[in-house]
Amino acid sequence: HNKYQAFPPLDMPNRQWPNNNISETPLWCSVDLRDGNQALVEPMTVSQKRRYYELLLAMGFKEIEVGFPAASKMDFDFVRWLIEENKIPGDVTIQVLTQARESLIEQTFAALKGVKQAIIHVYNSTSTVQRELVFQKDRQGIIDIAVQGATWVKLHAEANPGPQWQFEYSPESFSGTELDFAVDICDAVNAVWQPTAANPVIINLPATVEMSTPNVFADQVEWFCGNVKNRDAITVSVHTHNDRGCAVAAAELAVMAGADRVEGTLLGNGERTGNMDIITMAMNLYSQGVDPKLQLGDIDNIITTISECTQLPVHPRHPYVGELVYTAFSGSHQDAIKKCLDRRVPESTWNVAYLPIDPTDLNRTLQHVIRVNSQSGKGGIAYLLEQEYGVQLPRWLQIEFSSVVQRQSETTASELLVPQIWQLFKSTYAHTE
Ligand code: KIV
Ligand code: ZN
Repeated sequence: HNKYQAFPPLDMPNRQWPNNNISETPLWCSVDLRDGNQALVEPMTVSQKRRYYELLLAMGFKEIEVGFPAASKMDFDFVRWLIEENKIPGDVTIQVLTQARESLIEQTFAALKGVKQAIIHVYNSTSTVQRELVFQKDRQGIIDIAVQGATWVKLHAEANPGPQWQFEYSPESFSGTELDFAVDICDAVNAVWQPTAANPVIINLPATVEMSTPNVFADQVEWFCGNVKNRDAITVSVHTHNDRGCAVAAAELAVMAGADRVEGTLLGNGERTGNMDIITMAMNLYSQGVDPKLQLGDIDNIITTISECTQLPVHPRHPYVGELVYTAFSGSHQDAIKKCLDRRVPESTWNVAYLPIDPTDLNRTLQHVIRVNSQSGKGGIAYLLEQEYGVQLPRWLQIEFSSVVQRQSETTASELLVPQIWQLFKSTYAHTE
């Protein structure tokens, strides 16, 4: 189905890992092609969307929100292309968003004609501010919208038997909704669908706007899980945004508080400050010994595709994937890294100071960790000369030469690459040859 199938998985080495906080991988749902795309300055072109979709398949996503077909012709056509060109593998379910309006739901089903399995995702806003100022409706008025939406989807699903239909409901702006009301509205929606453990409804709890510290969001999720009726027949999903910079933390704490599923995007693209970043959360799981069940083993290929499709640059210090995240310029860090690499027992717990994971796990090399500028020290410089040129400097020479390197880097106000350091070494000590 796609040309990226060759992406390697993350190898889960047989090491000892630090204590786990999250012991099970949540179900992932990528909303890149909908929430991510709707936030782009220039939405993805047809070919970028296709390429991104293939990337998501190659990374192992099993649930992918592919658009809002009733609101956008491009999304409608994209869904048709997926179905008509047989681009949806048997173990993958596409998800489509719609508001709770009958004409939109009808169009959504038209877009999905011929699909084998799909999630119909209905949302309406439930927070106090949305109820009072945007919709000017009381609680019952908002419940009526949700129940009507659920009913129309159910009627259309029954009128179109064959495909496996799953229903998802989001009380949009859950993070600003009174908890008793959030439970009431979801109970009302579930009463329409009558889910069972074998055929669950997805209730997706969005921090549409991140409004609290992540522990408070997790408390909201925990309370919801403890109070909603028929919990065993519900897949509780979370969908966090990053307005306070804690979307990943909020999703992680929510999973610890009982959520089963996480919606997010790659590298956190999405409305305003973005959605939660699935790559960061997946790598956090990995670094605790929990298999994220996503194929992240060739990260550079993945991030190149993401940024080519979204036209967004990747910050050089983006967790796990930025260009500079496995580098050390300062002397003390270099020295500690060098000692750990020299002294650690291979295949034991990854225990290298200043490197939270082994960069080679992501197909990055250890070769470029130590970088030299005017802040670097003797240990790092000696390490590089030994690694690259097989030259072992005695301690007195390490001390002397490192000040030569520092002066040179100060003069040029730039980083020195290993061949330049080697040249400098040769020119400095040429008379002693
Ligand atoms: O952020 C949000 O609330 C959404 C909903 C449509 C789920 O994107
Ligand atoms: Zn969102």
